[in-house]
Amino acid sequence: MSIWRVKPVSAFEADMKKSELKRVLGKWSLTAIGIGAIIGGGIFVLTGTGAYYHAGPALAISFIIAGIACVFAALCYSEFASIIPVEGSAYAYAYGTIGEVFAWIIGWGLILEYAMGSMTVAVSWSGYFNKLLKMFHIHLPDWLTTEPASYTGTGFSMNLPAFLIVLLVISILIRGTKSAAKANNMIVVLKVSAVLFIIIAGLFFINTANWSPFIPEVTQIVDKHTVHNAYGFAGIVSGAAAIFFAYVGFDAVSTQAGEAINPKKDVPFAIITSLMICTILYILVSLVLTGMMNYQDFNPLGKYPEAIKAPVAYAFDIAGQAWAGYIITIAATIGLISVLMVMIMGQSRIFLGMSKDGLIPSVFSKINPLSGTPKYNLMILGGVIATVAAFTPINKLADMTSFGTLFAFTMVCIAVWILRKKEPNLQRTFRVPALPVIAVCGIAINTYLMINLSKDAQLLSMGWLAIGVLIYFAYSKRNSKLNKPL
Ligand code: ALA
Repeated sequence: MSIWRVKPVSAFEADMKKSELKRVLGKWSLTAIGIGAIIGGGIFVLTGTGAYYHAGPALAISFIIAGIACVFAALCYSEFASIIPVEGSAYAYAYGTIGEVFAWIIGWGLILEYAMGSMTVAVSWSGYFNKLLKMFHIHLPDWLTTEPASYTGTGFSMNLPAFLIVLLVISILIRGTKSAAKANNMIVVLKVSAVLFIIIAGLFFINTANWSPFIPEVTQIVDKHTVHNAYGFAGIVSGAAAIFFAYVGFDAVSTQAGEAINPKKDVPFAIITSLMICTILYILVSLVLTGMMNYQDFNPLGKYPEAIKAPVAYAFDIAGQAWAGYIITIAATIGLISVLMVMIMGQSRIFLGMSKDGLIPSVFSKINPLSGTPKYNLMILGGVIATVAAFTPINKLADMTSFGTLFAFTMVCIAVWILRKKEPNLQRTFRVPALPVIAVCGIAINTYLMINLSKDAQLLSMGWLAIGVLIYFAYSKRNSKLNKPL
């Protein structure tokens, strides 16, 4: 049946030869793209929730588990990137192995990761930007910083900073990948330095008694909305799902394969290196945080009700070191720009791949010859992301981003295994070791984390995928290039 048709690897190779994108990214720029996408608000915000509602001081183990889930997926992404180094990432890998309808669903699911991720990141950027302005005693009126559904006043309101930051990022991306990568490199140096600084400064305020018991006994925490089964081993695992968002982004490196100078070697290197660097930083941040502040003090109904919203800054505040809050606010305000940049860039390249294959309209694959970027694709994407971020409560759905990512990870682990069986002799500059063990572990752990996400996120994401299937049958199946062989 045509929905199972597979795009042959030779067709990907032919596409690559015709590609109009400019190959400008070396291995360290690619690594910086990975780090640029990974380190964002997640590490500064989710750690309190992870410690209080899920893992206690063993939050560091949650970070290790989520990191391992990502490593399995990262290895599988790397093998694919070494065979099919094209811009479509997981979508393209599935198209080359499992079949068109699956590829479509994955591409559609990746919109949750990249486009929706960008919307929520734009909203959190606006939050940090406002904090930064307040540090300089500048107060924007509520109607300019609040989307209409959350606005308590009357009349017009919008989240203007979220809107403008998306437009700024789009204008950088349209100018060219080389200049965007340069800006990203600078931001990455800055935010990694800030995270290292926080870790080193935090060491001086650790009270080791806060780490004991390291894995608190299983208990139920009841808050206003939900009952949480906290602590113990199960708590550590649900903690890994809760903080997973902090890892989202490393796979964006694979969407840049079409612009890499030496994609078959450098993309696998960058995926794995960026993930390793961030995993180590995250483990250290979580250890420092739970050592500085007792996990029970993140209770939103306890003596520090605000701590859970900005746990890292708060821990320093309590230690009498309010300056750290300033550093975090500055680092997050600047750092989130690169998350946004890489995520939007990733989404545009996935659309580019899907458009080249005829599954979405051809406007998404028009490349501007001067800049070598998909200008109209970026403009449409920017318009939608900016509008949704400014006018809807999209940040309430942030868990859907984790769903889309975990879904893609699972599929990539399945696909790499299938391709090894189907085409064992393809040239692979990177091979997943111990296959199928790694793929099976990747499938199991990523699916498990998906099941541990909130029920709302699961249902809404399923609904999103169902809409995708309808669009596939209404439009994409008929317009697929594989439907009309030249
Ligand atoms: N990993 C990114 C963040 O934490 C998306 O903001």
